[in-house]
Amino acid sequence: MTTIREAFETMAWGPAPESAAAAQAWLDKHSSVLGHFINGAWCAPADGARLATVNPANGVEIAQVAQGSAQDVDAAVAAARAAQPGWWALGGHVRARWLYALAREVQRNSRLFAVVESLDNGKPIRESRDIDIPLVARHFYHHAGWAQLMDTELPGYGPVGVVGQIIPWNFPLLMLAWKIAPALAMGNTVVMKPAEFTPLTALVFAECCANVGLPAGVVNVVTGDGKTGAALVDHADVDKIAFTGSTEVGRIIRVATAGSGKKLSLELGGKSPFLVFDDADLDSVVEGVVDAIWFNQGQVCCAGSRILAQESIAPRLVEKIRARMETLRIGDPLDKAVDIGAIIAPVQLEKIRGLVQQGIAEGATCWQPSWSVPKEGYFFPPTLFTDVTPTATVAQVEIFGPVVVLMTFRTPAEAVELANNTRYGLAASVWSENLNTALDIAPQLKAGTVWVNCTNMFDAASGFGGYRESGFGREGGKEGLWEYVRSVRPAAREASAGVRVAPATGTPAAAPQLAEASAARAAASAPSIDRTPKLYIGGKQVRPDSGYSLPVLDAAGTRVAEVGHGNRKDIRNAVEAAHKAAEGWTKATAHARAQIIYYLAENLAVRESEFAARLCALCACAPGFAEREVRTSVQRAFSYAAWADKYDGRVHATPYRNVTLAMNEPIGVLGLVAPTEAPLLGFLSLVLPSVAMGNTVVAVPSERWPLLATDLYQVLDTSDVPGGVINIVTGPRKDLAPVLAAHDDVDGIWFYGPRVEAAAVEKLSAGNMKRTHVAWDAVDWLDPHHGEGEEFLREATQVKNIWVPYGA
Ligand code: NAI
Ligand code: MG
Repeated sequence: MTTIREAFETMAWGPAPESAAAAQAWLDKHSSVLGHFINGAWCAPADGARLATVNPANGVEIAQVAQGSAQDVDAAVAAARAAQPGWWALGGHVRARWLYALAREVQRNSRLFAVVESLDNGKPIRESRDIDIPLVARHFYHHAGWAQLMDTELPGYGPVGVVGQIIPWNFPLLMLAWKIAPALAMGNTVVMKPAEFTPLTALVFAECCANVGLPAGVVNVVTGDGKTGAALVDHADVDKIAFTGSTEVGRIIRVATAGSGKKLSLELGGKSPFLVFDDADLDSVVEGVVDAIWFNQGQVCCAGSRILAQESIAPRLVEKIRARMETLRIGDPLDKAVDIGAIIAPVQLEKIRGLVQQGIAEGATCWQPSWSVPKEGYFFPPTLFTDVTPTATVAQVEIFGPVVVLMTFRTPAEAVELANNTRYGLAASVWSENLNTALDIAPQLKAGTVWVNCTNMFDAASGFGGYRESGFGREGGKEGLWEYVRSVRPAAREASAGVRVAPATGTPAAAPQLAEASAARAAASAPSIDRTPKLYIGGKQVRPDSGYSLPVLDAAGTRVAEVGHGNRKDIRNAVEAAHKAAEGWTKATAHARAQIIYYLAENLAVRESEFAARLCALCACAPGFAEREVRTSVQRAFSYAAWADKYDGRVHATPYRNVTLAMNEPIGVLGLVAPTEAPLLGFLSLVLPSVAMGNTVVAVPSERWPLLATDLYQVLDTSDVPGGVINIVTGPRKDLAPVLAAHDDVDGIWFYGPRVEAAAVEKLSAGNMKRTHVAWDAVDWLDPHHGEGEEFLREATQVKNIWVPYGA
């Protein structure tokens, strides 16, 4: 028996358990056996297979759920397909009302959701009740608004169709909301596959859909493990896959969907840096560390798991963190006074233990609190590593548990280097009382979210997603909507208008008599066979490594020139040159980039007739057509010069005392494989938006008509384009595209060519999870609705959200 005096002195808190009665009642109603939710109704798994879900706090089974088979997935996709046209046809306002109704229903059931979430996942009720579930409701409200505004804010866009969504176990209902809300708002229907460890709140949500009377088939939930997920990924009638989970599975999905035409967004792992400068408020920093790595037991994709502390304050910070670790409370997730709950499953617990052992074995110092964790259930104590080298396993691998490493730095430059020394790029925090320091560092960090003097802040109005191997695509904010729409442009004009669509093999597409006519004109205007253009790397014309060249034929089949036969080595050199140039080009102002592109347009315009003659000589095209292609190229350069300083970001209205700056940043080094057709305009239509946004590029021109690109060398030289910003490697597309796609220092690849080759490009891109943009249908490059615009700018950028709090 504790006396009042003792209680007062220790300030120890008694248990304050939340009742599980409502959750139990819900389980009892279903006899603790749950099916899939397909076409608005519960249904048993076709093959009767089941799996158990367990309470991580005590290891006891909570319920049996269906283990979805390919047949179940098929039924769910069919229901979603049937429902989709009707759901879209309802219009934005009616969909907004449905999303609003779902938000209200989530709020009405918020306590049930919170308790079921904590039971199934092991997270503290304080987090599920105060963070997860309110954010879920917020997502549905926010996206009700986007449904309402879709017509006016996203004109020319329609739904993707049927979306397969696969989510992890760390934020079961929140990840469901992040995926379902934007999908429904934009007129899609969904098949949701929750994680095998945490299927329950998705099923409570399914019941909410039924309760509000959501049209059948709009939301389908199929439970099961990775095999169920794979069946959804492989389903031929799914138009898009949205995935959150491990980078390993993300990579499998990237490969599985390659060449399928399915849209793909991936939100993957992280090893996010947490930078502490010597002028930071260390007490705030300590609470930040608690949030960064002990929130949800550290099972957070954006967990701040690498503390980088400036050398002078590091010892003091370590002392403060260790003291704070002592006071953290671990235990029953349903206890309202508990800070740290249970780890999801024995397999994760073992993984964490193994990595901690490895950390110790590799020589780091391991700090844990003096108290021990509950014996029952899957618990792991908060853990801090010091004396960690940047290459140590614990400094590189995503532990996905309550384990943080601390390293030191001396200068801001060193801090940035250490922070970016990871294959991931999901998030980062910067702690400094000096706003100049914080806002100088934030843009230098390769991460999709940067939190200044705060951490793990989320909101529906702000995008969230990765750079690098943390995946691509955004969830939340206007930037997140693009993942769930497709442009519905006016149909492409007929090829008879003179568009050169590349046939698979053989001669150009134009009619034979036209070919003859222009061949005759070509004879008169063709430049003589006097030189073999080399490659263009680092602003210099260089001989191909192979020492070989390839013939270029004109429309009549006559050899008019030779171009360099580029190979793997040339691509590597070009990538290196592009990297060297990147630093200066990214730092150049948008105004400066615009000026250079205008200058390029001006120099191209001066040589319009020369380029037109070249086009005529090479490709059979209708009279006047070549001139149009060159003129349009000049106009396109003007367009992107104009866009350079106008494709700007946003300030999101997140509901805290802060500004959230959504900045469009370049992706880095882009590999561009230009279409065969429109050898000048198609080439420039890829290069110009890329460099306008601050990327540097390695471009492979039209294989058949590369001279239009090699003729640009002088134009580039005379337009002040810095060496290495635009590199051009001629040669066989089949050889060069795979090298670019597989290259670990290429950050994104665009490919215009046959579908089989596009599939190979997407597959190879999985190596470093580079961004891809591939197209195999012919594009009418002359038409500005098809050949230019914001869609290209979106492909050339990634959004970084920087959260800056205010308040004195
Ligand atoms: P996971 O990536 O295997 O699971 C995520 C989801 O993908 C689950 O719904 C799962 O059923 C599904 N899935 C698994 N294999 C699939 C496949 N071949 N095709 C389609 N869907 C598939 O993650 P897991 O095994 O639960 O955790 C392993 C590690 O992944 C963790 O230790 C952690 O490091 C990381 N992880 C990262 C998350 C993040 O948010 N970044 C979330 C969960 C795990
Ligand atoms: Mg569970």
